[in-house]
Amino acid sequence: QLSPIDTAKFVAARRACDLVEDGMRVGLGTGSTSAWMVRCLGEMVREDGLRITGVPTSARTAALAREMGIHVLGLDEARWLDICIDGADECDGELNLIKGGGGALLQEKIVATASDRMVVIADPSKVVAQLGAFPLPVEVVPFGWQTTQALLQETIAALDVLGDRTELRMNGDQPYVTDEGNHIVDLHLGRIGNARQLALVLNQIPGVVENGLFIDICDVLVTGHADGRVELR
Ligand code: A5P
Repeated sequence: QLSPIDTAKFVAARRACDLVEDGMRVGLGTGSTSAWMVRCLGEMVREDGLRITGVPTSARTAALAREMGIHVLGLDEARWLDICIDGADECDGELNLIKGGGGALLQEKIVATASDRMVVIADPSKVVAQLGAFPLPVEVVPFGWQTTQALLQETIAALDVLGDRTELRMNGDQPYVTDEGNHIVDLHLGRIGNARQLALVLNQIPGVVENGLFIDICDVLVTGHADGRVELR
Protein backbone atom coordinates (compact mmCIF):
# COMPACT_ATOMS: atom_id res chain seq x y z
CA GLN A 1 0.00 0.00 0.00
CA LEU A 2 1.53 3.32 -1.12
CA SER A 3 1.39 6.49 0.97
CA PRO A 4 -0.72 9.35 -0.48
CA ILE A 5 2.38 11.20 -1.70
CA ASP A 6 3.86 8.09 -3.32
CA THR A 7 0.51 7.35 -4.96
CA ALA A 8 0.53 10.86 -6.46
CA LYS A 9 4.11 10.44 -7.72
CA PHE A 10 3.40 6.95 -9.03
CA VAL A 11 0.27 7.85 -11.03
CA ALA A 12 2.04 10.87 -12.56
CA ALA A 13 5.01 8.68 -13.52
CA ARG A 14 2.80 5.95 -14.98
CA ARG A 15 0.82 8.45 -17.07
CA ALA A 16 4.04 10.00 -18.43
CA CYS A 17 5.28 6.54 -19.44
CA ASP A 18 2.23 6.27 -21.75
CA LEU A 19 3.94 8.96 -23.86
CA VAL A 20 6.93 6.67 -24.49
CA GLU A 21 6.76 4.72 -27.75
CA ASP A 22 8.69 1.78 -29.11
CA GLY A 23 12.18 2.71 -30.34
CA MET A 24 12.37 6.00 -28.47
CA ARG A 25 15.47 7.42 -26.79
CA VAL A 26 14.35 8.54 -23.38
CA GLY A 27 16.03 10.91 -20.93
CA LEU A 28 15.65 9.49 -17.42
CA GLY A 29 15.35 12.05 -14.63
CA THR A 30 16.58 11.86 -11.07
CA GLY A 31 14.71 11.89 -7.77
CA SER A 32 11.97 9.97 -6.00
CA THR A 33 9.29 10.75 -8.62
CA SER A 34 11.62 9.85 -11.48
CA ALA A 35 12.46 6.58 -9.74
CA TRP A 36 8.79 5.58 -10.13
CA MET A 37 9.04 6.41 -13.84
CA VAL A 38 12.17 4.26 -14.25
CA ARG A 39 10.43 1.35 -12.49
CA CYS A 40 7.35 1.76 -14.74
CA LEU A 41 9.47 1.86 -17.90
CA GLY A 42 11.40 -1.18 -16.69
CA GLU A 43 8.14 -3.06 -16.30
CA MET A 44 7.08 -2.05 -19.83
CA VAL A 45 10.44 -3.27 -21.17
CA ARG A 46 10.36 -6.58 -19.33
CA GLU A 47 6.66 -7.38 -19.65
CA ASP A 48 5.44 -5.64 -22.82
CA GLY A 49 8.61 -5.93 -24.89
CA LEU A 50 9.00 -2.15 -25.19
CA ARG A 51 12.33 -1.35 -26.86
CA ILE A 52 13.85 1.91 -25.65
CA THR A 53 17.22 3.43 -24.94
CA GLY A 54 17.48 5.26 -21.64
CA VAL A 55 19.85 8.16 -21.05
CA PRO A 56 20.18 8.68 -17.29
CA THR A 57 20.75 12.06 -15.62
CA SER A 58 22.74 10.70 -12.66
CA ALA A 59 24.75 7.71 -11.51
CA ARG A 60 21.83 6.85 -9.19
CA THR A 61 19.34 6.74 -12.05
CA ALA A 62 21.76 4.81 -14.26
CA ALA A 63 22.09 2.11 -11.60
CA LEU A 64 18.31 1.85 -11.14
CA ALA A 65 17.66 1.77 -14.90
CA ARG A 66 20.15 -1.08 -15.41
CA GLU A 67 18.65 -2.94 -12.48
CA MET A 68 15.20 -2.57 -14.11
CA GLY A 69 16.50 -4.04 -17.38
CA ILE A 70 16.48 -0.81 -19.42
CA HIS A 71 19.15 -0.47 -22.13
CA VAL A 72 21.27 2.47 -21.01
CA LEU A 73 23.47 4.75 -23.12
CA GLY A 74 25.40 7.93 -22.33
CA LEU A 75 24.14 11.15 -23.90
CA ASP A 76 26.95 11.37 -26.43
CA GLU A 77 26.27 7.82 -27.63
CA ALA A 78 22.55 8.53 -27.99
CA ARG A 79 23.15 12.10 -29.30
CA TRP A 80 19.53 13.27 -29.37
CA LEU A 81 16.48 12.18 -27.44
CA ASP A 82 12.80 11.93 -28.27
CA ILE A 83 11.60 12.63 -24.78
CA CYS A 84 12.90 13.29 -21.30
CA ILE A 85 10.84 12.58 -18.19
CA ASP A 86 11.94 14.13 -14.91
CA GLY A 87 10.64 15.45 -11.61
CA ALA A 88 10.91 19.02 -10.35
CA ASP A 89 11.12 20.85 -7.07
CA GLU A 90 8.78 23.60 -8.29
CA CYS A 91 6.81 24.25 -11.48
CA ASP A 92 4.99 27.52 -12.19
CA GLY A 93 2.06 28.34 -14.51
CA GLU A 94 4.39 28.87 -17.49
CA LEU A 95 6.03 25.47 -16.87
CA ASN A 96 9.25 27.09 -15.71
CA LEU A 97 10.98 25.00 -13.07
CA ILE A 98 13.30 24.86 -10.12
CA LYS A 99 15.30 21.63 -10.17
CA GLY A 100 18.36 20.29 -8.42
CA GLY A 101 17.01 19.44 -4.98
CA GLY A 102 18.53 16.03 -5.60
CA GLY A 103 21.78 17.56 -6.83
CA ALA A 104 21.55 16.39 -10.45
CA LEU A 105 20.59 19.70 -12.11
CA LEU A 106 23.56 19.91 -14.49
CA GLN A 107 23.07 16.56 -16.20
CA GLU A 108 19.30 17.06 -15.99
CA LYS A 109 19.46 20.37 -17.84
CA ILE A 110 21.82 19.05 -20.52
CA VAL A 111 19.65 15.97 -21.12
CA ALA A 112 16.36 17.92 -21.09
CA THR A 113 17.76 20.42 -23.58
CA ALA A 114 18.88 17.58 -25.88
CA SER A 115 15.34 16.16 -25.89
CA ASP A 116 12.57 16.99 -28.36
CA ARG A 117 10.12 17.09 -25.47
CA MET A 118 10.54 17.43 -21.72
CA VAL A 119 7.77 16.00 -19.55
CA VAL A 120 7.74 16.89 -15.85
CA ILE A 121 6.08 14.56 -13.39
CA ALA A 122 4.93 16.04 -10.10
CA ASP A 123 2.69 15.78 -7.10
CA PRO A 124 0.53 18.85 -6.32
CA SER A 125 3.00 20.20 -3.72
CA LYS A 126 5.40 21.04 -6.58
CA VAL A 127 2.94 23.21 -8.50
CA VAL A 128 3.32 26.88 -7.49
CA ALA A 129 2.09 30.31 -8.62
CA GLN A 130 5.56 31.82 -8.37
CA LEU A 131 8.98 30.17 -8.12
CA GLY A 132 11.34 30.68 -5.20
CA ALA A 133 10.05 29.14 -1.99
CA PHE A 134 12.25 26.12 -2.72
CA PRO A 135 15.93 27.09 -2.37
CA LEU A 136 17.45 27.50 -5.83
CA PRO A 137 20.44 25.17 -6.36
CA VAL A 138 23.47 26.60 -8.14
CA GLU A 139 26.30 24.25 -9.14
CA VAL A 140 29.75 25.80 -8.63
CA VAL A 141 33.26 24.49 -9.23
CA PRO A 142 35.18 23.65 -6.02
CA PHE A 143 38.02 26.06 -6.88
CA GLY A 144 37.30 29.34 -5.07
CA TRP A 145 33.79 28.33 -4.09
CA GLN A 146 33.70 30.82 -1.20
CA THR A 147 34.51 33.67 -3.59
CA THR A 148 31.83 32.41 -5.97
CA GLN A 149 29.35 32.21 -3.09
CA ALA A 150 30.16 35.82 -2.11
CA LEU A 151 29.58 36.93 -5.72
CA LEU A 152 26.29 35.04 -5.77
CA GLN A 153 25.28 36.77 -2.55
CA GLU A 154 26.11 40.20 -4.00
CA THR A 155 24.34 39.46 -7.25
CA ILE A 156 21.06 38.29 -5.81
CA ALA A 157 20.93 41.19 -3.32
CA ALA A 158 20.66 43.51 -6.35
CA LEU A 159 17.81 41.55 -7.98
CA ASP A 160 14.05 41.27 -7.60
CA VAL A 161 13.99 38.52 -4.97
CA LEU A 162 12.69 38.41 -1.42
CA GLY A 163 15.55 36.72 0.48
CA ASP A 164 19.29 36.70 -0.11
CA ARG A 165 20.70 33.95 2.09
CA THR A 166 23.10 31.51 0.41
CA GLU A 167 24.22 28.18 1.81
CA LEU A 168 26.80 25.63 0.70
CA ARG A 169 25.06 22.24 0.50
CA MET A 170 26.64 19.73 2.88
CA ASN A 171 26.85 15.97 3.02
CA GLY A 172 27.45 15.34 6.71
CA ASP A 173 30.43 17.54 7.59
CA GLN A 174 31.77 17.67 4.01
CA PRO A 175 30.59 19.82 1.09
CA TYR A 176 28.15 17.91 -1.13
CA VAL A 177 29.83 16.72 -4.35
CA THR A 178 27.82 16.35 -7.56
CA ASP A 179 28.30 13.62 -10.18
CA GLU A 180 30.45 16.15 -12.06
CA GLY A 181 32.67 16.75 -9.01
CA ASN A 182 31.27 20.20 -8.20
CA HIS A 183 29.59 21.77 -5.15
CA ILE A 184 26.11 23.26 -4.78
CA VAL A 185 25.19 26.60 -3.26
CA ASP A 186 21.48 26.84 -2.39
CA LEU A 187 19.95 30.31 -2.73
CA HIS A 188 17.14 31.02 -0.27
CA LEU A 189 15.20 33.55 -2.32
CA GLY A 190 11.66 33.13 -1.02
CA ARG A 191 10.18 34.59 -4.18
CA ILE A 192 11.76 35.08 -7.61
CA GLY A 193 10.42 38.13 -9.41
CA ASN A 194 12.05 37.55 -12.80
CA ALA A 195 13.20 33.96 -13.17
CA ARG A 196 14.33 34.39 -16.78
CA GLN A 197 16.64 37.27 -15.85
CA LEU A 198 17.94 35.49 -12.76
CA ALA A 199 18.80 32.35 -14.75
CA LEU A 200 20.86 34.37 -17.23
CA VAL A 201 22.59 36.54 -14.62
CA LEU A 202 23.64 33.62 -12.41
CA ASN A 203 25.40 31.86 -15.28
CA GLN A 204 27.53 34.97 -15.92
CA ILE A 205 29.31 34.55 -12.59
CA PRO A 206 32.74 32.92 -12.92
CA GLY A 207 32.74 29.65 -11.00
CA VAL A 208 29.05 29.01 -11.63
CA VAL A 209 28.56 25.96 -13.82
CA GLU A 210 24.76 25.96 -14.02
CA ASN A 211 21.68 26.94 -12.05
CA GLY A 212 18.49 25.02 -11.30
CA LEU A 213 16.11 27.33 -13.16
CA PHE A 214 14.69 25.56 -16.23
CA ILE A 215 13.17 28.31 -18.39
CA ASP A 216 11.24 27.38 -21.56
CA ILE A 217 12.53 23.81 -21.37
CA CYS A 218 9.52 21.90 -20.02
CA ASP A 219 6.75 21.14 -22.55
CA VAL A 220 4.27 19.06 -20.54
CA LEU A 221 3.42 18.90 -16.84
CA VAL A 222 1.83 15.72 -15.52
CA THR A 223 0.43 16.19 -12.02
CA GLY A 224 -0.64 13.12 -10.06
CA HIS A 225 -2.99 13.25 -7.10
CA ALA A 226 -3.26 11.05 -4.03
CA ASP A 227 -6.74 9.88 -5.13
CA GLY A 228 -5.27 8.57 -8.41
CA ARG A 229 -6.40 11.45 -10.64
CA VAL A 230 -3.89 12.78 -13.17
CA GLU A 231 -3.85 16.15 -14.93
CA LEU A 232 -1.87 17.03 -18.06
CA ARG A 233 -0.91 20.55 -18.94
C1 A5P B 1 17.19 16.21 -8.84
O1 A5P B 1 18.34 16.93 -8.98
C2 A5P B 1 16.01 17.11 -8.89
O2 A5P B 1 16.00 18.01 -9.93
C3 A5P B 1 14.73 16.32 -8.83
O3 A5P B 1 14.17 16.13 -10.08
C4 A5P B 1 13.81 17.05 -7.97
O4 A5P B 1 14.53 17.34 -6.79
C5 A5P B 1 12.54 16.26 -7.65
O5 A5P B 1 12.82 15.21 -6.80
P1 A5P B 1 11.67 14.38 -6.12
O6 A5P B 1 10.91 13.72 -7.20
O7 A5P B 1 12.38 13.41 -5.21
O8 A5P B 1 10.84 15.36 -5.34
